[in-house]
Amino acid sequence: MDKLFIRFLIIWLSLYDNIGHHHCHLYDWMHRIVLDSNNKYHLKWLFNMKQELIVFNVCVETHGWFGLGISHSGHMIGSDIVIGWIDQRGHVHLQDRFAEDADEMPVIDDKQDWQLESGYENDTHTCITFSRPFLTCDYDGDLPITNDVTKLIWAYNDDDPVGYSAILSKHSHHQRGHRSVHLLNYKFDNNDNNNLNNIKHSSMIKSWDITSKNVTIPHDSDTTYWCKIVSPSFRSKAHVIRIEPIISPSKNAPFVHHMVLYRCLHPNPLMMYDYLDQPGINCLDFANMPFDFFHCQSIYMVWTTGGEAFNLPDNVGIPIFEDHETTYFMFEIHYDNPELKQNIQDSSGLRLFYTEKLREFDADTATMGSVVDYRLIIPDGFENFTISGHCSPECFRQKIPTTGLNVLAALPHGHKHLQRIIVRHFRHHEELPPLAEENNYDFNFQDFRRFNKQRIILPGDQITVECTYNTESLKRPILGGLSTQEEMCMVFLVYYPRMKGVRTCLSGLTPETVMKLTNIDQVQKLDENDMNPVIIHPLEYANQTLSTYVLTKQHWQIPKNTVADIENLTNLIRYAPQKAQCFWRKIEGIDGIEGMDEINELITYPKSYRRYEKPIAKCRPVINSHYTIPPRFMSSSSSLLTVLFPYPFYIIIIIITIFCI
Ligand SMILES: *[C@@H]1O[C@H](CO)[C@@H](O)[C@H](O)[C@H]1NC(C)=O
Ligand SMILES: *[C@@H]1O[C@H](CO)[C@@H](O)[C@H](O)[C@H]1NC(C)=O
Ligand SMILES: *[C@@H]1O[C@H](CO)[C@@H](O)[C@H](O)[C@H]1NC(C)=O
Ligand SMILES: *[C@@H]1O[C@H](CO)[C@@H](O)[C@H](O)[C@H]1NC(C)=O
Ligand SMILES: *[C@@H]1O[C@H](CO)[C@@H](O)[C@H](O)[C@H]1NC(C)=O
Repeated sequence: MDKLFIRFLIIWLSLYDNIGHHHCHLYDWMHRIVLDSNNKYHLKWLFNMKQELIVFNVCVETHGWFGLGISHSGHMIGSDIVIGWIDQRGHVHLQDRFAEDADEMPVIDDKQDWQLESGYENDTHTCITFSRPFLTCDYDGDLPITNDVTKLIWAYNDDDPVGYSAILSKHSHHQRGHRSVHLLNYKFDNNDNNNLNNIKHSSMIKSWDITSKNVTIPHDSDTTYWCKIVSPSFRSKAHVIRIEPIISPSKNAPFVHHMVLYRCLHPNPLMMYDYLDQPGINCLDFANMPFDFFHCQSIYMVWTTGGEAFNLPDNVGIPIFEDHETTYFMFEIHYDNPELKQNIQDSSGLRLFYTEKLREFDADTATMGSVVDYRLIIPDGFENFTISGHCSPECFRQKIPTTGLNVLAALPHGHKHLQRIIVRHFRHHEELPPLAEENNYDFNFQDFRRFNKQRIILPGDQITVECTYNTESLKRPILGGLSTQEEMCMVFLVYYPRMKGVRTCLSGLTPETVMKLTNIDQVQKLDENDMNPVIIHPLEYANQTLSTYVLTKQHWQIPKNTVADIENLTNLIRYAPQKAQCFWRKIEGIDGIEGMDEINELITYPKSYRRYEKPIAKCRPVINSHYTIPPRFMSSSSSLLTVLFPYPFYIIIIIITIFCI
């Protein structure tokens, strides 16, 4: 009896612990998105990192069933699917399924790991709330919930499934789709409804709306990037303290995928002035863009679907209209129109709240990683090829206050061949947890990783960005460059207090390494820091610079495919000592210098260090999950406890509890 009691107690306590935070009060949803373009499929979710639990609420304008799936690729096959509906008698059904085959019905898992929390149906909608541990012990039927890019796949139908195994009626293509999200990203404004009211009602705080002003979303392509040059109308330094999305009209939420504001770092900023009056342009791939727009690649702020407002801490603001770098911006909206709908007008954008009463600290964006030039070389023909870019501790050592830099968010960045990216953080002989990690990189889904607790970079720390690319389909190596046909490997960090003058901390292969890769024997360097020497031998290339030679090289012969080749190349490229470059920026009246610092000592991985070990996730068995609840337990506010325990079970526990105490 004793043992049994303890087991029940443990189950009881662990359940209570799991749900304590949302027991008996309305859920504090962290994220909400609309998944379909008819505004019928609404999804909300929250998560608890400590308890490793995620809770979803699906509310669909239907009286039939809905499906929500988790997938890496966005395809049905290999996706982990939950199907929910409410039948004629008011019973709530929830089924944990797995799609083994693209054409077949997803099969019902032997283990049902989604826990039904509540569900109801009214005249118009079916709404069901359900939860799951991040990692269940059903390795065959469930995918783990991680903070890598997750493709949510969704579907619904106006009929209930028929029969015991719930043969799902075929859904029309209007009623399904997929959407990329970061399920486990934090919000910036977790606890600041008061703060928000203060911001919105303070006379000191003004706002600047940057919007697309009635753009017709093209219906001949499912993906559109639309860009416009903008500049604030105020004329003195201010602090941006909050940035929020404006979705206008609000029914356009499903089309507005992400919005980015880039700084224009034009050597002659006045050149940007002429673009202010011009309407926006289609800017996918930079192909149609005026060359001047290429100077606008320094990310100032990003908003991505499913993300909310970006709030700065009370003592921090991001400078605007301080100098030429914070005067002209390129605003970019990425529209998604998978159903190629016509005549969708959009005026969405970003609202920047700013104050001229400056706060204590300036925030800034720092860029770290690999240089973006001919020295970023990724051999073709590899499923996984990893390169690295280092931010040398010497670059910022004198600029970082002894208390360190407080990092608020990180945005890892590469282009279309990038698969995985990790931002590693070394201090002395120890590796700290990565500042960012993405194992399912999606070029079309760029989003800040927000930290729950601010991360600190101290003087002397080294940051190394590692990027793994898939170049199987390529016939020649891919090189560093700004267009999406070329590659990048870097991270943007939002941090404070701002370091004066420095912003960019990169490294790249030495010309000597590039020579080995390209069979050049002899070059002439102007000095030790000359990163683009002139070729002397072989004679046929004499007098060309190394970069011209590499960029126009016709017959690349980088060995591939054998393990020895990979090791050879990896040692030559990823682990090579690299040249560190710290770029200075000019701030009028502050530093007055513009240029680059060379650091003489080459940089690579720290010599010896204790590797960061990712905690091994333990799977959490799900006890007692049901996929039907009798109507008497059904209500929008019913708590998990009553839902989970059918009455007799509940009573037994109470009896045992009473008897044993
Ligand atoms: C049904 O519930 C949904 C979601 O809570 C709500 O938006 C909708 O207005 C409700 N409909 C009716 C007819 O009450
Ligand atoms: C947006 O454009 C459409 C058609 O081009 C027009 O009918 C509508 O009045 C415009 N709306 C605004 C707010 O300018
Ligand atoms: C490439 O990396 C992926 C993910 O880690 C792995 O599944 C795959 O086996 C790797 N391929 C090769 C050829 O190593
Ligand atoms: C390279 O330049 C030198 C000096 O201008 C010239 O003498 C030489 O012929 C050039 N070599 C080639 C291959 O063009
Ligand atoms: C690979 O290793 C072999 C033997 O160690 C060496 O001869 C060759 O130059 C190396 N290749 C590259 C690309 O470094």
